[in-house]
Amino acid sequence: MAHIVYWSSFRSSILKWVYRKRSIFRSFNKLNMISSCLFILLTLTIIYGYYYIHLFKAVPHVIIEEQTSISSKDSNKPCDLYDGAWVLDEGYPLYNASECPFAETSFNCLANGRKDDGYLKWRWKPNRCEVSRFDVGVVLEKLRGKRVVFVGDSLSRTQWESMICLLMNGVDDKTSVYEVNGNKISKKIRYLGVRFSLYNFTVEFYRSVFLVQIGSVPRHSPKRVRSTVKLDELDNVSSKWIDSDVLVFNTGHWWNRAKLFEMGCYFKVNGRLKLGMSTMAAYTTALNTWASWVENKIDTDRTRVFFRTFEGTAQRVTLAKSPRIPWFKARANTVNTEVNSRIL
Ligand SMILES: *[C@@H]1O[C@H](CO)[C@@H](O)[C@H](O)[C@H]1NC(C)=O
Ligand SMILES: *[C@@H]1O[C@H](CO)[C@@H](O)[C@H](O)[C@H]1NC(C)=O
Ligand SMILES: *[C@@H]1O[C@H](CO)[C@@H](O)[C@H](O)[C@H]1NC(C)=O
Repeated sequence: MAHIVYWSSFRSSILKWVYRKRSIFRSFNKLNMISSCLFILLTLTIIYGYYYIHLFKAVPHVIIEEQTSISSKDSNKPCDLYDGAWVLDEGYPLYNASECPFAETSFNCLANGRKDDGYLKWRWKPNRCEVSRFDVGVVLEKLRGKRVVFVGDSLSRTQWESMICLLMNGVDDKTSVYEVNGNKISKKIRYLGVRFSLYNFTVEFYRSVFLVQIGSVPRHSPKRVRSTVKLDELDNVSSKWIDSDVLVFNTGHWWNRAKLFEMGCYFKVNGRLKLGMSTMAAYTTALNTWASWVENKIDTDRTRVFFRTFEGTAQRVTLAKSPRIPWFKARANTVNTEVNSRIL
């Protein structure tokens, strides 16, 4: 465990937690199932996720005024939501995945034979305040007439699923909740939109694992180049993300050498191949592209923007060797950790 301590407070709590789970189940040989389980564990906390997902400085005016969801013990000091711990709470889980049509079977650990259920009962507890319990009735009302959009890889998809499952618990007529195109969830599906017709809102998912655009292969490229990622251009479906009330991004797990190598995927900037560019430099460039896009295209008075990076669970890396991300640290330090009840 010592090798992960340099990650401070909240992030290290997540990591420790994830690693604890990992070591318990190392004997299990079904790695896929385990990583699926880890994903779902993280996504179960989606609503809490709203409070701790990193908000970057790149998104202006995300300063938060109301605090109805948070009660601080010490009103002089604002509560640092990142400073806390995972605690067991017997009042969890908040939904039963087997009863939710939008929970992917492959992420339903209990249905896949897992016997213990303690992993469903973790709740994030900031040290100096309480985050009030998820109240489905209140949240459904707050979302009335709104549009919530998740963008990213499967982490975003499973968060999207969890959010829908949480919300469906408060809807008696389950048939009033449906995917707008009648599509089923699959790994590569580009768009899914679930409408809560009684409340006139949708919760949508766009698959965009890099957030930036997949490009063509320039002529005369080396044979190993089979696809490119255009680091200076946002995904071509990004215009669809603009007109939303809550916009939740994630990217991270696909920015790893093994995955890129497998796809024969190289980076492109300004139309030029950058064969020697490191993955971390590329990730930073892409995130800056994303941040400029948010600044230029998003009306942050209307749309609340969240960004979630990766937490090192899907890749079996030794964390001591994983690079620090100066970009991330710089911006994470400016995070405003208060919570605006307007987001929901
Ligand atoms: C979840 O739902 C399934 C199917 O209805 C049921 O068999 C199972 O007992 C439920 N699990 C819990 C923990 O309630
Ligand atoms: C549903 O919400 C939209 C905004 O997303 C609004 O324009 C429309 O009037 C609402 N419809 C009803 C029936 O409330
Ligand atoms: C958007 O990019 C995808 C590849 O990521 C491509 O298949 C699609 O045709 C593009 N769509 C438009 C409208 O350019």
